Amino acid sequence: MPLSARFHAASSRSLGVLGEARAAARAAGRPLIDLGMGEPREQVPAAVREAGAAALASYLPYPRPGGTPELREAIAAWARRRFDRALDPEREIIPTLGSKEAIFSLAQLLVDPAAGRDLVVATVPGYPIPAAGATYAGARLLELPLREQDGFLPALDAIPDEDWGRIAVFWINYPNNPTGAAVDAAFIGGLAGRAREHGFVLASDEAYWELWTGEPSASALSLDSLANVLVFGSLSKRGSMPGYRSGFVAGDPELIDALRAFRLQAGTVPPVFVQAAAAAAWADDEQPARLRSVLGRRRAVLVDALTGAGFRCRGESCVFVWAAVPAGWTSARAAEWLLERDVLVAAGDLFGAAGEGWLRVATVATDAEIAAAAKVIAGWRM
Ligand SMILES: Cc1ncc(COP(=O)(O)O)c(C=O)c1O
Repeated sequence: MPLSARFHAASSRSLGVLGEARAAARAAGRPLIDLGMGEPREQVPAAVREAGAAALASYLPYPRPGGTPELREAIAAWARRRFDRALDPEREIIPTLGSKEAIFSLAQLLVDPAAGRDLVVATVPGYPIPAAGATYAGARLLELPLREQDGFLPALDAIPDEDWGRIAVFWINYPNNPTGAAVDAAFIGGLAGRAREHGFVLASDEAYWELWTGEPSASALSLDSLANVLVFGSLSKRGSMPGYRSGFVAGDPELIDALRAFRLQAGTVPPVFVQAAAAAAWADDEQPARLRSVLGRRRAVLVDALTGAGFRCRGESCVFVWAAVPAGWTSARAAEWLLERDVLVAAGDLFGAAGEGWLRVATVATDAEIAAAAKVIAGWRM
């Protein structure tokens, strides 16, 4: 079948190998400890589940492309509590089917090579979806490396002067996947200023916000102005709700208007009963606090074991440890050593070549599994 060059280019950036390794171990009957994907697996609070179930009792018409007023209000109330930000629920918020689909499709609204807007900027190592979306939109992709010596912030002076005006969308992601790094308000504010100066969109993927170990990362929702800015939020991590598929985009009302029109055609409107559960979840600050405590405790066990085995641990996300492999090892070889002992982690180069030399270890398994994984790590090279 003649599949498109864009399909082939985008497919090379997939974390599918983690799923394949998990399936192969399970097919062989091996007791795998899965520290690969960063999805929390804690129970969702009863009030959230019941709100979704109650909505199912009524007839459900086609959902409105802008989402239910209750969910938009709940997200606005969360932004008010968390950031003291007054978002207009009508004009500045749109619920999404998880944040992935919205992150993937944004480039389709903004990339326009004929008008001189052909560039998407993303950071590496990184979540691969901004780059995949750019590829499908026919954009030129500029990947800026996140280096330990720069605090895992992209070096903006690596962007040639003539390219700033060609940027359609500039992606940042803090707390960062996979490095776990946080960002300060000055960096986001500076980039938002450049977005307005050069006419591009600053897209801030904040899927891991609220799940930190040290100081909270800054959020674009704290900016003085959201002109040219979009923030992508999600319940998958802070609510431990990956299977509900619920997120939001908030920001510049002109862009939210365009997204509403685009999403009506794309059909990416969240089911009404999921929106009912999501409204209850955004009203609840206890679940993220519980996750910070549980995942933070597990992270500390893994950091101890990894440090003792000669890894250098970085990051402040409580969902991941970003660990530099000991001298003489590659990411792939270190991940393989652990997999041979039934511990699945992500080799850093899965997130782009700039991740070579690192492992991403997720903290999402049970306490007993984390203790067993720590024991395996403690036997490193013995
Ligand atoms: C950095 C980052 N952004 C966004 C997402 C998307 O999450 P969801 O579509 O579940 O909201 C993920 C999921 O792993 C992620 O790692």
